Amino acid sequence: MSRKRIGILTGGGDCPGLNAVIRAAVRTARENNFDVLGIQLGFEGLLTNAVVPLTTESIRGILPKGGTLLRTTNRGNPFEYPDGAGGCVDRSAEVIRALAELRIDGLIAIGGDGTLRIAQNLCDMGIPIVAVPKTIDNDLAATDYTFGFHTAVAVATEAVDRLHSTAESHNRVMILEVMGRNCGWIALFSGIAGGADIILIPEIPYSPDHVARSIRERQREGSRFDIIVVAEGAKRIGGEEKYLDKATRRLGGVAYEVAAEIAQQIDLEIRVTVLGHIQRGGSPISFDRILATRFGKAAADLIAAGDFGKMVSLRGDEVCAVPIRDAVANPKYVDPEGQMVATARSVGISFGDGR
Ligand code: F6P
Repeated sequence: MSRKRIGILTGGGDCPGLNAVIRAAVRTARENNFDVLGIQLGFEGLLTNAVVPLTTESIRGILPKGGTLLRTTNRGNPFEYPDGAGGCVDRSAEVIRALAELRIDGLIAIGGDGTLRIAQNLCDMGIPIVAVPKTIDNDLAATDYTFGFHTAVAVATEAVDRLHSTAESHNRVMILEVMGRNCGWIALFSGIAGGADIILIPEIPYSPDHVARSIRERQREGSRFDIIVVAEGAKRIGGEEKYLDKATRRLGGVAYEVAAEIAQQIDLEIRVTVLGHIQRGGSPISFDRILATRFGKAAADLIAAGDFGKMVSLRGDEVCAVPIRDAVANPKYVDPEGQMVATARSVGISFGDGR
């Protein structure tokens, strides 16, 4: 009888720790006597036959590396594949055929909400899939943390630290825009870790008047600089998110909007830093390497046990398995009344909402 075969792919935006998941899944799968095929560029690789064997040799040295050995794309959804004429075609049947031709007995799909939705749809069509949640945004329900998030927070925290000294030297307001899509996790965590004065997140719409008032209050108390961390999806009360490209819903630029809104109300100079993809690139911190390794091992074990349609998840200190369906049901937002926000408020951080 031929050996069983696992396929692995990474979909959506990259994130630190993807290689650590691949490495752990390959090592565990080989311990369980499975062969492993790497599918390149997410589900797209099944349409183009971009498939490579993953062996102990081919994954050597990838644990600390950023990005993904298998490359990735946030286009190429087989259910809505661009037809080259501005429309879409459903190519899911070709994906299913390719999996059969490659004799893949179980597929590990590592990705964010887009990839997990594709995985769920394929599961509903009978494809044996196990999912691993990844995103720096930490916005997936059904897991406490995704790997990559803490690395992004560490990068953003270092940016806040660096902005502090230059802000203080020049008596300036520094506004740092961080990623996170429509969730404020990166802004909240890095703002608290870096000791920001103001944090603006999508879950707590802000008023420019309140932001300016809190800067003036600090000035009255003797401080002559301010650090504002703003999530890219933040919006003013009654306002909308700021898009770089509305058609593709690419967020960005809210920090410049905040700067313009408060400029007339304060007498300090303002400078803006947009941190961008630096938060996604580079080596994962040890927490993310360990979480990614645990997730990779758990995913390979689920495949070996034939427990499909599940996503590996961190609950407290335990890695467990939850239905993929639960993970994609709703995004995980910051709770405006939760402990993290309360902690921030109690150490004097303003959310620009006048509380
Ligand atoms: O989901 C991860 C993320 O980095 C978001 O924080 C950000 O809005 C988006 O991806 C950027 O996407 P792209 O890499 O397509 O510019």
